[in-house]
Amino acid sequence: MPSKEKILVIGSQGQIGIELVERLRQIYGADNVVASDVKEIARIDQSHTGLYETLNVLNANRVHEVVKDHGINEVYLLAALLSATAEKDPAFAWDLNMNGLFNVLNMAKEGILSKIYWPSSIAVFGPTTPKKNTPQFTIMEPSTVYGISKQAGERWCEYYVNKYKVDVRSLRYPGLIGWKSAPGGGTTDYAVQIFHDALKTGLYTCFLEENTELPMMYMPDAIKATVDIMQAERSKIGIHSAYNLNGFSFSPKELAEEIRKHIPGLKMTCKPDFRQAIADSWPQSIDDSRARSDWGWKPEFNIGQMTSDMLINLNNQKKPKS
Ligand code: SER
Repeated sequence: MPSKEKILVIGSQGQIGIELVERLRQIYGADNVVASDVKEIARIDQSHTGLYETLNVLNANRVHEVVKDHGINEVYLLAALLSATAEKDPAFAWDLNMNGLFNVLNMAKEGILSKIYWPSSIAVFGPTTPKKNTPQFTIMEPSTVYGISKQAGERWCEYYVNKYKVDVRSLRYPGLIGWKSAPGGGTTDYAVQIFHDALKTGLYTCFLEENTELPMMYMPDAIKATVDIMQAERSKIGIHSAYNLNGFSFSPKELAEEIRKHIPGLKMTCKPDFRQAIADSWPQSIDDSRARSDWGWKPEFNIGQMTSDMLINLNNQKKPKS
Protein backbone atom coordinates (compact mmCIF):
# COMPACT_ATOMS: atom_id res chain seq x y z
CA MET A 1 0.00 0.00 0.00
CA PRO A 2 1.47 3.42 -0.86
CA SER A 3 2.36 5.51 2.17
CA LYS A 4 -0.24 8.16 3.03
CA GLU A 5 2.51 10.26 4.57
CA LYS A 6 4.32 12.59 2.18
CA ILE A 7 6.96 14.18 4.34
CA LEU A 8 9.14 17.28 4.06
CA VAL A 9 12.03 17.67 6.53
CA ILE A 10 13.17 21.30 6.73
CA GLY A 11 16.70 21.63 8.12
CA SER A 12 17.73 18.15 7.01
CA GLN A 13 21.47 18.84 7.24
CA GLY A 14 21.49 19.63 10.96
CA GLN A 15 22.27 17.33 13.88
CA ILE A 16 18.76 15.91 14.11
CA GLY A 17 17.85 16.21 10.44
CA ILE A 18 20.59 13.93 9.12
CA GLU A 19 19.49 11.05 11.36
CA LEU A 20 15.76 11.71 11.18
CA VAL A 21 15.66 11.68 7.37
CA GLU A 22 17.42 8.32 7.35
CA ARG A 23 14.90 6.85 9.81
CA LEU A 24 11.84 8.35 8.10
CA ARG A 25 13.00 6.93 4.75
CA GLN A 26 13.30 3.47 6.34
CA ILE A 27 9.75 3.74 7.68
CA TYR A 28 7.87 5.52 4.88
CA GLY A 29 10.08 4.81 1.85
CA ALA A 30 12.67 7.08 0.23
CA ASP A 31 10.17 8.41 -2.33
CA ASN A 32 7.91 9.74 0.44
CA VAL A 33 10.50 11.77 2.34
CA VAL A 34 11.89 14.98 0.85
CA ALA A 35 14.95 16.38 2.63
CA SER A 36 15.52 20.13 2.43
CA ASP A 37 17.98 22.62 3.79
CA VAL A 38 19.21 26.12 3.07
CA LYS A 39 22.56 24.60 2.05
CA GLU A 40 22.95 24.19 -1.69
CA ILE A 41 25.92 21.88 -1.27
CA ALA A 42 23.80 19.35 0.58
CA ARG A 43 22.24 18.41 -2.75
CA ILE A 44 25.42 16.46 -3.46
CA ASP A 45 25.35 14.60 -0.14
CA GLN A 46 21.71 13.66 -0.42
CA SER A 47 21.45 12.89 -4.14
CA HIS A 48 22.18 9.21 -3.74
CA THR A 49 19.83 8.61 -0.85
CA GLY A 50 16.66 10.39 -1.90
CA LEU A 51 14.83 13.56 -2.82
CA TYR A 52 16.42 16.88 -1.89
CA GLU A 53 15.33 20.52 -2.27
CA THR A 54 17.25 23.68 -1.43
CA LEU A 55 14.85 25.74 0.65
CA ASN A 56 14.93 28.67 3.05
CA VAL A 57 12.06 28.31 5.52
CA LEU A 58 11.79 32.12 5.72
CA ASN A 59 10.73 32.14 2.07
CA ALA A 60 7.06 31.18 2.44
CA ASN A 61 6.48 31.06 -1.33
CA ARG A 62 9.30 28.58 -1.77
CA VAL A 63 7.97 26.39 1.07
CA HIS A 64 4.53 26.43 -0.63
CA GLU A 65 6.13 25.52 -3.96
CA VAL A 66 8.05 22.53 -2.57
CA VAL A 67 5.01 21.32 -0.62
CA LYS A 68 2.85 21.56 -3.76
CA ASP A 69 5.42 20.00 -6.11
CA HIS A 70 5.83 16.92 -3.91
CA GLY A 71 2.27 16.65 -2.58
CA ILE A 72 3.57 17.03 0.99
CA ASN A 73 1.15 16.60 3.90
CA GLU A 74 3.56 16.41 6.88
CA VAL A 75 6.41 18.77 7.77
CA TYR A 76 9.20 18.26 10.29
CA LEU A 77 10.55 21.78 10.88
CA LEU A 78 14.07 21.50 12.28
CA ALA A 79 15.67 24.68 10.89
CA ALA A 80 16.77 26.87 13.82
CA LEU A 81 19.74 28.59 15.41
CA LEU A 82 20.76 26.82 18.63
CA SER A 83 21.51 28.51 21.95
CA ALA A 84 25.13 29.60 21.59
CA THR A 85 24.89 30.66 17.93
CA ALA A 86 21.64 32.52 18.61
CA GLU A 87 23.32 34.69 21.28
CA LYS A 88 25.70 35.98 18.59
CA ASP A 89 22.88 37.13 16.30
CA PRO A 90 19.70 37.57 18.35
CA ALA A 91 17.70 39.37 15.64
CA PHE A 92 18.34 36.70 13.03
CA ALA A 93 17.74 33.89 15.54
CA TRP A 94 14.35 35.36 16.45
CA ASP A 95 13.46 35.83 12.78
CA LEU A 96 14.44 32.29 11.78
CA ASN A 97 13.09 30.48 14.82
CA MET A 98 9.74 32.33 14.88
CA ASN A 99 8.88 33.24 11.30
CA GLY A 100 9.97 29.83 10.03
CA LEU A 101 7.46 28.34 12.44
CA PHE A 102 4.69 30.76 11.39
CA ASN A 103 5.20 29.89 7.72
CA VAL A 104 4.58 26.23 8.45
CA LEU A 105 1.82 26.73 11.06
CA ASN A 106 -0.09 28.91 8.60
CA MET A 107 0.05 26.19 5.95
CA ALA A 108 -1.54 23.82 8.45
CA LYS A 109 -4.16 26.46 9.26
CA GLU A 110 -4.95 26.74 5.53
CA GLY A 111 -5.45 22.97 5.42
CA ILE A 112 -2.43 22.34 3.18
CA LEU A 113 -0.59 20.29 5.85
CA SER A 114 -2.23 17.72 8.06
CA LYS A 115 0.53 17.30 10.67
CA ILE A 116 3.59 19.23 11.83
CA TYR A 117 6.55 18.31 14.01
CA TRP A 118 8.42 21.20 15.62
CA PRO A 119 11.13 20.68 18.27
CA SER A 120 11.26 22.58 21.51
CA SER A 121 14.06 22.39 24.07
CA ILE A 122 15.04 22.43 27.73
CA ALA A 123 16.04 26.03 26.90
CA VAL A 124 12.40 27.05 27.52
CA PHE A 125 13.30 26.86 31.22
CA GLY A 126 15.28 29.55 33.02
CA PRO A 127 17.10 30.43 36.24
CA THR A 128 13.87 30.53 38.28
CA THR A 129 12.74 27.04 37.19
CA PRO A 130 13.20 24.19 39.72
CA LYS A 131 16.42 22.52 38.57
CA LYS A 132 15.95 18.92 39.57
CA ASN A 133 13.31 16.69 38.04
CA THR A 134 11.89 19.80 36.37
CA PRO A 135 8.10 19.40 36.08
CA GLN A 136 6.15 19.58 32.81
CA PHE A 137 4.27 22.64 34.06
CA THR A 138 6.43 25.04 36.05
CA ILE A 139 7.99 28.50 36.10
CA MET A 140 9.41 29.32 32.66
CA GLU A 141 11.51 32.47 32.38
CA PRO A 142 14.08 31.65 29.70
CA SER A 143 17.09 33.97 29.59
CA THR A 144 18.48 33.14 26.14
CA VAL A 145 17.23 34.25 22.72
CA TYR A 146 16.93 30.60 21.75
CA GLY A 147 14.91 29.80 24.87
CA ILE A 148 12.64 32.81 24.40
CA SER A 149 11.97 31.78 20.79
CA LYS A 150 11.23 28.18 21.81
CA GLN A 151 8.93 29.26 24.61
CA ALA A 152 7.05 31.66 22.36
CA GLY A 153 6.92 28.90 19.72
CA GLU A 154 5.35 26.51 22.21
CA ARG A 155 2.67 29.08 23.04
CA TRP A 156 1.93 29.62 19.34
CA CYS A 157 1.75 25.87 18.65
CA GLU A 158 -0.79 25.43 21.43
CA TYR A 159 -2.71 28.48 20.21
CA TYR A 160 -2.94 27.11 16.66
CA VAL A 161 -4.09 23.71 17.96
CA ASN A 162 -6.81 25.26 20.12
CA LYS A 163 -7.92 27.98 17.73
CA TYR A 164 -7.47 26.44 14.28
CA LYS A 165 -7.55 22.72 15.17
CA VAL A 166 -4.21 22.02 13.49
CA ASP A 167 -2.16 18.96 14.51
CA VAL A 168 1.26 20.06 15.84
CA ARG A 169 3.45 17.85 18.00
CA SER A 170 6.53 18.85 19.93
CA LEU A 171 9.21 17.63 22.35
CA ARG A 172 11.50 19.56 24.67
CA TYR A 173 14.76 17.86 23.69
CA PRO A 174 17.56 17.76 26.23
CA GLY A 175 21.16 18.02 24.89
CA LEU A 176 21.47 15.57 22.00
CA ILE A 177 24.56 13.45 21.43
CA GLY A 178 25.23 11.72 18.12
CA TRP A 179 28.12 10.60 15.92
CA LYS A 180 26.64 11.13 12.45
CA SER A 181 27.04 14.91 12.41
CA ALA A 182 29.29 17.62 13.80
CA PRO A 183 28.21 19.72 16.83
CA GLY A 184 25.67 22.36 15.78
CA GLY A 185 26.21 25.47 17.93
CA GLY A 186 24.47 24.41 21.13
CA THR A 187 25.60 24.75 24.75
CA THR A 188 25.22 21.01 25.28
CA ASP A 189 27.43 20.30 22.26
CA TYR A 190 30.55 20.00 24.43
CA ALA A 191 29.27 16.47 25.00
CA VAL A 192 29.72 15.74 21.27
CA GLN A 193 33.02 17.57 20.76
CA ILE A 194 34.70 15.78 23.68
CA PHE A 195 34.36 12.44 21.84
CA HIS A 196 35.99 13.80 18.69
CA ASP A 197 38.88 15.37 20.62
CA ALA A 198 39.33 12.33 22.87
CA LEU A 199 39.84 10.14 19.81
CA LYS A 200 41.94 12.64 17.86
CA THR A 201 44.34 14.09 20.45
CA GLY A 202 43.35 12.75 23.87
CA LEU A 203 42.98 16.37 25.02
CA TYR A 204 39.77 18.32 25.46
CA THR A 205 39.20 21.89 26.60
CA CYS A 206 35.67 22.24 27.90
CA PHE A 207 33.79 25.55 27.69
CA LEU A 208 31.74 24.60 30.77
CA GLU A 209 32.87 24.18 34.36
CA GLU A 210 33.45 20.50 35.24
CA ASN A 211 30.51 20.08 37.64
CA THR A 212 27.83 21.59 35.38
CA GLU A 213 25.12 18.95 35.23
CA LEU A 214 22.72 18.99 32.27
CA PRO A 215 20.03 16.65 30.91
CA MET A 216 21.19 14.76 27.81
CA MET A 217 20.00 12.07 25.41
CA TYR A 218 21.57 9.77 22.84
CA MET A 219 20.36 10.54 19.31
CA PRO A 220 18.76 7.12 18.61
CA ASP A 221 16.44 7.75 21.58
CA ALA A 222 15.63 11.27 20.36
CA ILE A 223 14.79 9.93 16.89
CA LYS A 224 12.64 7.19 18.43
CA ALA A 225 10.76 9.76 20.56
CA THR A 226 10.18 11.94 17.49
CA VAL A 227 8.81 9.07 15.41
CA ASP A 228 6.73 7.77 18.34
CA ILE A 229 5.02 11.08 19.09
CA MET A 230 4.26 11.61 15.40
CA GLN A 231 2.83 8.10 15.05
CA ALA A 232 0.75 8.28 18.24
CA GLU A 233 -3.01 8.52 17.86
CA ARG A 234 -4.08 12.14 18.02
CA SER A 235 -6.30 11.45 21.03
CA LYS A 236 -3.22 10.44 23.06
CA ILE A 237 -1.55 13.83 22.63
CA GLY A 238 -2.70 15.70 25.72
CA ILE A 239 -0.05 18.44 25.65
CA HIS A 240 -0.03 20.80 22.68
CA SER A 241 2.87 23.01 23.73
CA ALA A 242 5.74 20.48 24.05
CA TYR A 243 6.45 17.38 26.11
CA ASN A 244 9.29 17.14 28.64
CA LEU A 245 11.70 14.39 27.59
CA ASN A 246 14.43 12.87 29.77
CA GLY A 247 17.38 10.65 28.97
CA PHE A 248 20.17 10.85 31.56
CA SER A 249 22.09 13.66 33.23
CA PHE A 250 25.81 14.19 33.69
CA SER A 251 28.50 16.84 34.16
CA PRO A 252 31.62 17.25 31.96
CA LYS A 253 33.62 15.58 34.74
CA GLU A 254 31.31 12.55 34.80
CA LEU A 255 31.36 12.23 31.01
CA ALA A 256 35.17 12.45 30.92
CA GLU A 257 35.32 9.68 33.55
CA GLU A 258 33.00 7.52 31.45
CA ILE A 259 35.14 8.07 28.32
CA ARG A 260 38.30 7.26 30.33
CA LYS A 261 36.95 3.71 30.78
CA HIS A 262 37.77 3.37 27.04
CA ILE A 263 40.48 6.03 26.57
CA PRO A 264 42.32 6.13 29.93
CA GLY A 265 44.69 8.93 28.90
CA LEU A 266 41.98 11.54 28.16
CA LYS A 267 42.88 14.90 29.69
CA MET A 268 40.19 17.53 30.14
CA THR A 269 40.74 21.12 31.19
CA CYS A 270 37.87 23.55 31.75
CA LYS A 271 37.83 27.14 30.47
CA PRO A 272 34.24 28.32 30.95
CA ASP A 273 33.06 31.04 28.54
CA PHE A 274 29.70 32.78 27.90
CA ARG A 275 28.02 29.38 27.52
CA GLN A 276 28.46 28.72 31.25
CA ALA A 277 25.71 31.24 32.07
CA ILE A 278 23.41 29.55 29.55
CA ALA A 279 24.05 26.12 31.08
CA ASP A 280 23.57 27.49 34.60
CA SER A 281 20.10 28.73 33.63
CA TRP A 282 18.91 25.28 32.50
CA PRO A 283 17.57 22.29 34.49
CA GLN A 284 19.77 19.42 35.65
CA SER A 285 17.16 16.70 35.16
CA ILE A 286 13.67 16.47 33.72
CA ASP A 287 10.39 14.87 34.78
CA ASP A 288 9.00 13.28 31.61
CA SER A 289 6.17 11.31 33.20
CA ARG A 290 3.52 12.83 30.88
CA ALA A 291 5.35 11.63 27.76
CA ARG A 292 5.58 8.19 29.36
CA SER A 293 1.92 7.99 30.34
CA ASP A 294 0.36 9.75 27.31
CA TRP A 295 2.10 7.97 24.42
CA GLY A 296 4.39 5.38 26.01
CA TRP A 297 7.79 7.09 25.90
CA LYS A 298 10.75 5.14 27.31
CA PRO A 299 14.45 5.82 26.59
CA GLU A 300 16.80 2.91 25.89
CA PHE A 301 20.31 4.32 26.42
CA ASN A 302 22.13 5.28 29.61
CA ILE A 303 25.44 7.19 29.78
CA GLY A 304 27.56 4.02 29.65
CA GLN A 305 25.76 2.53 26.63
CA MET A 306 25.82 5.89 24.83
CA THR A 307 29.58 6.31 25.44
CA SER A 308 30.50 2.83 24.15
CA ASP A 309 28.28 3.22 21.10
CA MET A 310 29.64 6.71 20.26
CA LEU A 311 33.24 5.49 20.43
CA ILE A 312 32.59 2.36 18.35
CA ASN A 313 30.86 4.35 15.62
CA LEU A 314 33.31 7.25 15.55
CA ASN A 315 36.20 4.78 15.34
CA ASN A 316 34.50 2.92 12.47
CA GLN A 317 33.93 6.22 10.70
CA LYS A 318 37.68 6.97 10.81
CA LYS A 319 38.64 3.63 9.22
CA PRO A 320 39.21 3.83 5.46
CA LYS A 321 36.37 2.15 3.56
CA SER A 322 37.49 -1.03 1.80
N1 SER B 1 21.08 21.44 22.64
C1 SER B 1 20.50 22.73 22.62
C2 SER B 1 21.48 23.79 22.85
O1 SER B 1 22.42 23.56 23.59
C3 SER B 1 19.44 22.82 23.66
O2 SER B 1 18.23 22.48 23.10
O3 SER B 1 21.34 24.84 22.33
